[in-house]
Amino acid sequence: MPVVRLTKRLRFNATHRLYNPELDEQENRRLYGKCSDPGGHPHTYRLEVTVEGPTDPRTGMLMNFAEIEAIVRTEVLDRFDGKDLNTEVEAMRGRVPTAEHIAAVIWDRLEPKLAPRRLVEVTVGETESNIAVYRGQGAERD
Ligand code: NI
Repeated sequence: MPVVRLTKRLRFNATHRLYNPELDEQENRRLYGKCSDPGGHPHTYRLEVTVEGPTDPRTGMLMNFAEIEAIVRTEVLDRFDGKDLNTEVEAMRGRVPTAEHIAAVIWDRLEPKLAPRRLVEVTVGETESNIAVYRGQGAERD
């Protein structure tokens, strides 16, 4: 059976402040610059979720795009959209809400729900030009 990858693209709005409470103000400023300003700032996050598996010869599909979207809505958008990632998202608690951490947290939420299809990549874009790609722990390079 031909193996295929499907990518679903979605967006959500959230605010974040890059700030590690275990570090002092000066160190936060040095690491994160303006992104550490109090009050945080908004992004429209661009999320891409890629799954891999065999195409079912009967349906011609790996899975329905609408099904991927429904899972991402329930597991991610319903919890992240419109929220302050520093204070209002349980899954992000205790982590600086960088794109890297957001991608890894989203991966952990989605991976079990997408099985038996294999989650292969989660991409989180904070802007058009700042993008984090996560392929799971210990992922090999292509
Ligand atoms: Ni930011």
